[in-house]
Amino acid sequence: MSSLKEIVDNFNIKFILSGGKGGVGKTSCAGALAVLSAQRGLRTLVLSTDPAHSLSDSFDQDLSGGDPVPISGFDNLWGMEIDTEKGMQEFQQTIGDGAAGPDMAMASNLLGDMSGMSPPGSDEAMAFGKILEFIEDSSYDRVIFDTAPTGHTLKLLELPDLLDSWLGKILTLRQRLGSMMAGLRSMMGGAQQEDNAWEMLQSTKEKIKAARIELSDPEVTQFVVVSIAEAMSVFETQRLLGSLNAWNIPATNIVLNQLIPENPECKFCSSRREMQQTNIVDIRDLFNDLYITEVPLFETEIRGIEGLTELGKILMGEH
Ligand SMILES: Nc1ncnc2c1ncn2[C@@H]1O[C@H](COP(=O)(O)OP(=O)(O)OP(=O)(O)O)[C@@H](O)[C@H]1O
Ligand SMILES: [Mg+2]
Repeated sequence: MSSLKEIVDNFNIKFILSGGKGGVGKTSCAGALAVLSAQRGLRTLVLSTDPAHSLSDSFDQDLSGGDPVPISGFDNLWGMEIDTEKGMQEFQQTIGDGAAGPDMAMASNLLGDMSGMSPPGSDEAMAFGKILEFIEDSSYDRVIFDTAPTGHTLKLLELPDLLDSWLGKILTLRQRLGSMMAGLRSMMGGAQQEDNAWEMLQSTKEKIKAARIELSDPEVTQFVVVSIAEAMSVFETQRLLGSLNAWNIPATNIVLNQLIPENPECKFCSSRREMQQTNIVDIRDLFNDLYITEVPLFETEIRGIEGLTELGKILMGEH
């Protein structure tokens, strides 16, 4: 089990995912972890998989367009908001091609029912496509994922299983059809075609297998759960951790964000603080096997490199 600082300082860790309920501070934490990683000399990419991007706002720089954009002030930090439309088309094409093609069209006619044969298509599928891409890509030492609120992210994380079984179905079908098609073709005097689609499907399946291994290795991947000290967020944290556990995704850290600092002069602040402090006791009890980092509510919103650096220091326990 590793603390946040140990994770950031462990150069073997290639993927850090920041996730949790809406509005708790996922993007800010992803940004701060990215800045920390770049400050340690790692070639770092921070990538938003949330269709409602706010990474650009957080870095105060336009990171849209679907390609990595160099972040000002660094020569080893890039940011990227996935272009949902563009990425979806690419992804559907990559994995959809193998399921289409003349053989499969013929199969569809022969077998009738092809339901369940279209690739799982969604923002998450596309985000997962990006993960697959960066697992192979060695241009970055570290990739930080700013994920969408929990429900969306859970869908993303269950995709390897969904895709794997979908690809399995397609591959079995193609295999069965293969000999039949070859027979048909030679009967009709057609030449044997190379089955590129088959190889593509096989290689996607291999990539997914590799991704599952990487995503479940605590020396490669860490999911940081961001939460606030309120009951709703704690329930969601519990559900999220349960799912991460079920999918073998390493998660050892909770960031408890937006804690109201002591201020005896403000009655409103004091009563909110009291509520949070009571919850913190329960949270520490509930998640006593995890590292919990407390982050105060800043006087202003966290924006730009300065704010993210400040948050980073707190995440590293330097305050
Ligand atoms: N500790 C903090 N102190 C002050 N402001 C904060 C703190 N943490 C986050 N914020 C502010 O709260 C807002 C939401 O934060 P952020 O965008 O990081 O959350 P999120 O979980 O990514 O939200 P979403 O679910 O909308 O993606 C932002 O304006 C951010 O600057
Ligand atoms: Mg966000």
